[in-house]
Amino acid sequence: MYEDLLPHTLPTEAERLDRMAHAHDPDTFATIERLNLPKNAHCLDIGAGRGSVAIWLAQTLPGSDVIASDLDLSSVKKNTLSNLSLKKIDLRCDDLGSEVYDLVHCRAVLCFLPTRTEVLSAILKSLKPGGAFVATEMDFRQIASGPSRFWAMFWTAYLEFAASQGWDLEFGAALPGILAKSGFTEIDARHIQPILNHSGNTAGAAETETWSLTLATLAPQLIGGGFMTKGMLTDALSIIRNPEAWTTGPGFMVTSARRPVG
Ligand SMILES: C[S@@+](CC[C@H](N)C(=O)[O-])C[C@H]1O[C@@H](n2cnc3c(N)ncnc32)[C@H](O)[C@@H]1O
Repeated sequence: MYEDLLPHTLPTEAERLDRMAHAHDPDTFATIERLNLPKNAHCLDIGAGRGSVAIWLAQTLPGSDVIASDLDLSSVKKNTLSNLSLKKIDLRCDDLGSEVYDLVHCRAVLCFLPTRTEVLSAILKSLKPGGAFVATEMDFRQIASGPSRFWAMFWTAYLEFAASQGWDLEFGAALPGILAKSGFTEIDARHIQPILNHSGNTAGAAETETWSLTLATLAPQLIGGGFMTKGMLTDALSIIRNPEAWTTGPGFMVTSARRPVG
């Protein structure tokens, strides 16, 4: 399970989650800004990690009421925001309530859950009529078009490892259609294909560092599970960490949708 492989107690996990937030917050914030939330919005961030989205929401909408939730809340950054509260929610089994939220957000969470499609019904139910759902999920479909046959082979091996854990790293590609089938409306989606380069203080560099840390952390399972050799992982990490390489990284789908009114 995700929490066994990438627990918040790992010494590098806070940094990995910070890098992920630095890489993806700009797209997430732009997507949420387009939704014109009410000033007093009631918002829920599921699988909040360091809480960057929940904190931004609470700061941007001071009249709102924001909940940062996660399986493990220990990584949420300390803050003094009076309109931000923490709640332990396990998306696999906890009730999200009915017609509570103007916004539910999650990023890089659903793809790790075996019940990723079923939970969309619970999320839909938790939204007020007209309330919005924003989700960013991995969409690895185009990774094979990277710079070399090695790159395609490496990420194919990574996908096989992910599948062995019950993770669906192509879930982002299917998400818009699944949202439609689940009863959402006003579905909007854009595919993002970050280019990995390990220099500067950019979102792309943060994405690169996220993958560098993720792959280094998962090395025992990737190699020990027979999905790749140590040499393959070392070669991939040296491409990722090369400041002169500009390499296609795994993609993401950023989606927004609403609960129908009436
Ligand atoms: C890849 S991190 C993403 C963190 C944050 N959403 C971000 O993008 O910066 C995945 C997060 O989902 C949480 N998570 C994993 N399984 C969960 C579950 N069943 N219910 C709630 N949160 C879960 C993890 O604890 C972790 O904080």
